[in-house]
Amino acid sequence: MELIICKDYEELSQKASEIIISMLKENPKSILGLATGSTPEGMYANLVKANENNEISFKDVKTFNLDEYYGLDPENDQSYRYFMNDKLFNHVDINKEYTRVPSGTIENPEEYGKKYDEEIENAGGTDIQVLGIGANGHIGFNEPSDVFTPETHLVKLTEKTISDNSRFFENIDDVPKEAITMGMKSIMSAKKVLLIANGKNKADAIYKSLRGPIDPKVPASILQVHPDLVVILDEDAASLL
Ligand code: F6R
Repeated sequence: MELIICKDYEELSQKASEIIISMLKENPKSILGLATGSTPEGMYANLVKANENNEISFKDVKTFNLDEYYGLDPENDQSYRYFMNDKLFNHVDINKEYTRVPSGTIENPEEYGKKYDEEIENAGGTDIQVLGIGANGHIGFNEPSDVFTPETHLVKLTEKTISDNSRFFENIDDVPKEAITMGMKSIMSAKKVLLIANGKNKADAIYKSLRGPIDPKVPASILQVHPDLVVILDEDAASLL
């Protein structure tokens, strides 16, 4: 594991974007596993700038996102498809047909999950998977559980996640109670994993994930066995290490 501790969010976003930028320079056909949420927003803004400056192109890039709220359609401004279009895809030269975000409106999540995993596998797996982390240690929407679930699947969101994510909604009752998430197999098969976290509220999850036992009750702890894990933190998120 490579651990990079940054003085603040800006430096974290800078370092995270540098990794993606050098990957795209080396391989313009990279396959990126992407995350939503507050943490990667600065990184996406830097990637948009790098594309505007013609430093990198997304023309031949393919992407697979981690998750989507179940029940939200892509036009809903709280959906993760909307977030990705708004923060990255609408502002770079990517072919949207090469971008995948799990659908929140499918009827058979089990069948759909299999197809999503197959599509990732057929593409040769992701070259890098970007991950944020929940305050409860979730990655994607793999919530604390008795087992690590390998496949892309439907999950019930925990009270903690619903309350953490309610900041994006007008009312806590508007937060969807379920989501479709990539499972551990597709996450762990990424050639490189980039975990980013900032803020004191992530310190405990980071400590347990990186220093504690590997335990599905702390889903991110599985990353300890990934052969190429890069963790970029600000000082607050690193404060318990
Ligand atoms: C989002 C995702 C989640 C978030 C996590 C942290 O696609 O998979 O695991 O990364 O909930 O969210 P933020 O960055 O908003 O603190």
